[in-house]
Amino acid sequence: MLEVLKQLPADPILGLSSAYKQDTNPKKVDLGVGVYKDEQGRTPILSSVAKAQKILLANEDSKTYITPQGVPGYISGMLDLLLGKGHKTLIEERVAAVQAPGGCGALRILSELLKRCNGELTVWVSDPTWANHIPLIGSAGLNIETYPYFDKDQAGIRFDDMVACLEKVNKGDVVLLHGCCHNPTGADLTKAQWHKVLELAQEREFLPFLDIAYQGFGDGIDDDVYGLRLLADNLPELIVAASCSKNFGLYRERVGLAAMITARREVRDAIQTQIQSIARGIYSMPPSYGGALVDIILNSEELKQEWLGEVSSMRERMQTLRRLLVSKLEEKGASKDFSFINTQKGMFSYLCISPEQVQQLRHDYAIYFVDSSRVNIAGISTSNVDYIADALTAIL
Ligand code: LMR
Repeated sequence: MLEVLKQLPADPILGLSSAYKQDTNPKKVDLGVGVYKDEQGRTPILSSVAKAQKILLANEDSKTYITPQGVPGYISGMLDLLLGKGHKTLIEERVAAVQAPGGCGALRILSELLKRCNGELTVWVSDPTWANHIPLIGSAGLNIETYPYFDKDQAGIRFDDMVACLEKVNKGDVVLLHGCCHNPTGADLTKAQWHKVLELAQEREFLPFLDIAYQGFGDGIDDDVYGLRLLADNLPELIVAASCSKNFGLYRERVGLAAMITARREVRDAIQTQIQSIARGIYSMPPSYGGALVDIILNSEELKQEWLGEVSSMRERMQTLRRLLVSKLEEKGASKDFSFINTQKGMFSYLCISPEQVQQLRHDYAIYFVDSSRVNIAGISTSNVDYIADALTAIL
């Protein structure tokens, strides 16, 4: 039976890691998978997380199942972080939520929920979007269309085209938006543009679906949820997939949150049962460990402050690396203006070069990043930036 299935190509993002590991070039550089790295190229356990692990180890007295919803303090802590403590939707008990196995788990179960609501709806995703959005949402059997988002030639957002497209979206369709630090382009909506998106959602009555995986990596913990809070303040319904992989550095622990703002408490109660039954049908209940750590951090004033400081350091390091790369490229006389890298936010930059040029950098210089020209800014360091800038300048 199994012989009918063919071998698949490597994943466009995860496949880069194994190719990088096999490369024997001593100068190789990994700008592929979106993980934060320090100057030495390590992805350390955050100090706040290490302390939370000690507390958890000292206090955890059972490995029995947790509830299908997840760790309660994790869910409330995350909702406060996303919406702001005391948000009206929380006070009015209108938010259904479950802890999910990573942001991917949240995206998938929310897609299954949408399918239960209306199997005919279309989910609109940005062009381009994160390479795994379409497989994740498509696996739930939903129709997917794209809206224009980024112009590679201008290295900026095609906002007029995006608006023109969203003006035609059907009532009841779903529009997936990146809460901050757009993956793969690093190009985020301005506050004014978020207001326009809100206006369109109200006029067209589409449901925004926010994916937020980099809170704190753009402008700051609260600044990065400007759009999310604007929509939550003004729309009756909103769905949100959040991830703690990056800002808590909990990648392998798979810590995510699926949240659904509903118009009424009774609807919340119904949706809570639906989302839990979806989870039960796929993986039963989330793993506890990572959520328990985030619970400890967010509910201890001291650890939370420490964690916020660590998020700021990661953000500032990435901003410094952007400036460093741009100035090196200028210094080396690159024939393309890369100053747009400084205006992009978060972990990724879209270099706006062709797939052939990306391949050339991989084959001739062992610099690994996604074919779309997305680079992980955190993979740059003071020791490899000259090599990267020289190589880029050479292949233009
Ligand atoms: C990325 O975009 O590189 C990360 O979110 C890792 C992944 O799962 O693709």
